[in-house]
This record gives sequence, structure tokens and C-alpha cells, in this order.
Amino acid sequence: MLEKHSQLSVALILLFSGAPIYGQDACERLTAAKIPHTTITLAQTVAAGAFNGPPAPNSGTELSHLYKSLPPFCRVVAEAKPTSDSDIKLEVWLPVSGWNGKLEGIGAGGFAGSVLPISRPSTTANAATDAAPAYAADGDMLPPANYREWIYLSTGIDMSYSPKAGMQDHSVFDNVFVNPAAYRSFLATGTWPDKTVMVLEARGAQTKGSINQRGRFQNTEITGLEVHVKDEARFPGKWAFFDLDSLEKNGTLIPQGAPCYTCHAAHGAVDTTFVQFYPTLMPIAKAKGTLSATFQKEEAAQGAK
Ligand code: HEC
Repeated sequence: MLEKHSQLSVALILLFSGAPIYGQDACERLTAAKIPHTTITLAQTVAAGAFNGPPAPNSGTELSHLYKSLPPFCRVVAEAKPTSDSDIKLEVWLPVSGWNGKLEGIGAGGFAGSVLPISRPSTTANAATDAAPAYAADGDMLPPANYREWIYLSTGIDMSYSPKAGMQDHSVFDNVFVNPAAYRSFLATGTWPDKTVMVLEARGAQTKGSINQRGRFQNTEITGLEVHVKDEARFPGKWAFFDLDSLEKNGTLIPQGAPCYTCHAAHGAVDTTFVQFYPTLMPIAKAKGTLSATFQKEEAAQGAK
């Protein structure tokens, strides 16, 4: 029996705060954006307080006061048909200025016609999930805010890749984490799946503190945050590096060809990553036979088996 289901859902998303990115031209240009199974029917800049919308659909509550209080925004109206029997109407309102570049999606089906004004502090909004890396419109990476809840791989202390002794007057720890889904996949296959995200966190080392007399412990200061991400469709070499100033700011792409890429490609034991230094993964890579040829040659040359 052929029956057409028409599903109607409307989501209005308001985002505030942070650094200005979204200009007027950029808004109008969104009509040309190509999104699979989705047609953008309107992309229009609306001046502050100028929107004249309907009352709330279910309760009938008058919303003109709310509409008048809105900052200028880019109103995007779209229709999505992810399946042949679907017809999803959606609206997204992007602030013209002061957007932190992040998006929070709210609700689904049953939320027909709801207006959901949300105010987000610039520092905590985060669309990056455990499952996938996420990016801002300008290509920066959204900070993987909860990487400390991911899988811990290893800590190096004062690791140096040059034979010359560095002039190190203070120590640094580097802690490596990977998203749980990628870790589980590695355990099964000995290599990394698409959408792997690895974080290297550098932390200051300290001797004096509490009862400690000798040796060093990690202090609360993060001195560096770098991300190595596998996103096959997005990056020509499948992997890319990002540098983050802090978890409050988006990460900057390090261009292909930088020394990061060369050293990782030449010496990383598995798929340009340094699995030889991750004790829970090295035995898996050996067992699955996924160690890179160059790495095996390097090991053989050093006589270290
Ligand atoms: C001379 C070689 C070398 C260069 C250059 C290098 N790295 Fe690495 N990188 C390493 C080693 C060795 C490790 C393992 C660290 C550990 O065990 O703690 C590593 C680990 C990492 C990791 C953890 C995930 C992984 O791939 O194993 C990230 C992220 C990372 N490096 C980022 C960078 C970035 C960003 C740059 C460039 C700014 C860079 N690296 C340049 C040698 C290098």
C-alpha cells in the first residue's frame, strides 16, 4: 500500500556570543550552498528587532516581544528530503555578528514549530562529539572539549627527536588521548578508522609540591594542545594536524608539507601515528601485521627487535 508520510518539523536555533564571523554577504551566499537532499529556499539577513513572526504554535503565546529583542541574524529556510517519504522543513537562524562559530542542534520530529531561544556562553558551546571531528565554517577545528574522557594512550617526558641534547631547563610531559570509537576499532584491526581524533596535551612538570621530594609530577598548566585527525574526505593526505591555543578557541590547520607531516609519515609505526610509543597498541599492531614498512626497516637497521 502506498501511503505518503509527510513529516513536518521546524527548528529555530538562535546562537549568540563570541567573535564576529558571519557577514551579510556570507548569509545571502548560503542559498548557493550544496547540502545533500536539502534545498535552501531562503537565506536572508534580518535586521535587529525587524522579524515579524507568528505566535508560538502550540500554546499560542505571543512572541513579538521576543522577536523584537533579537540581534541581527541570518535566516536560513530549507527543505530536507533524506528519504523519499520525508519532507522536513527547517529553519536555522545564525547571528550576523558575535557568533562563536558553533552550532547546537535541539530536538527532532515532535518539536514542530517551537521557538527555542538559547543563549550560549562563548567558552562552553561545543558541537564536537566523541564520534566525529567537527569544524567551523572557516575550516578551523572545534576544540574536542572532552578529550580528557577519551582513551589514554601514553605519556612521554622530555622526549626529543634530535640526537643533540636540548637546552632544557624545565621538563615537559606530553599526554596522548584518542577518541574511544577509534581506539576500539584499532583493537580489532590494528589500524585507525576514518574520523580518528588524537590529542597531544603538553603539561608542565614540577618537583616541588606537597610531600614530593624527588621525581616530577604534572602540574595544572597546559602548555600545548595539538590534534592529529583522520578525515579522509576532507584532507588530501587523509590526516591533518591542528594547533590549539586552548580549549576555548578553535584549532588552526597546520598546512600539508609542514615538518609535522614529514616526521609522522617517515617514522610513525602505524598510519603516520607513533604507535611504537603507545604500549597498549604496539602489541596489537604487531599481531595484526599493520606496522609500516619504513618503520620495520628502521627497527631492523637499529637491530632493535
Ligand atoms: C621529528 C618528529 C616529529 C615531528 C616533526 C612532529 N612530531 Fe608529533 N609526534 C612525534 C612523536 C615521537 C610522537 C609520540 C609522542 C609520545 O609518545 O608521547 C608524536 C605524537 C604526536 C601526536 C599524538 C598522535 C600521533 O600521531 O601519534 C600529535 C597530535 C602530534 N604528534 C602532533 C604534532 C604536530 C602538530 C607537529 C607539528 C607542529 C608534530 N607532531 C611534529 C614526532 C614528531
